[in-house]
Amino acid sequence: MAPIPIIKILRFPVTKTPNDMESFEEVGRVDELAPGERKSVIVDDVPALLFRVEDDYYVIEDVCTHDGQPLTAGPLCGKEITCPRHGARFDVATGKPLCMPATEPVTTFDVEVKDGRILARPID
Ligand code: FES
Repeated sequence: MAPIPIIKILRFPVTKTPNDMESFEEVGRVDELAPGERKSVIVDDVPALLFRVEDDYYVIEDVCTHDGQPLTAGPLCGKEITCPRHGARFDVATGKPLCMPATEPVTTFDVEVKDGRILARPID
């Protein structure tokens, strides 16, 4: 009897690279916002806020982790946004809460700037 051939199926993991731009969505243009300004955007069907801090751009989910208040109208000082409801502050670069009553970070998004376009996508 002839030996049965062994067939190996090779699987390669799918990994995202910095050049994987397909999952990014355009949320604005660099000439649209002055330093300190913001814009309401949608990223991956999630309401979010795009901020310009000096020449850097950040996108966070537009919801306070303390009690669900939108952060849309919260004052921004440097990289810190204050929730207009109870005063929790968050770092828009990291999402980390900076004071009570919030204890959980807000969701942040990956941001890239390419050819004058600001792009964002959820972080894996
Ligand atoms: S809802 Fe934002 S601090 Fe309470």
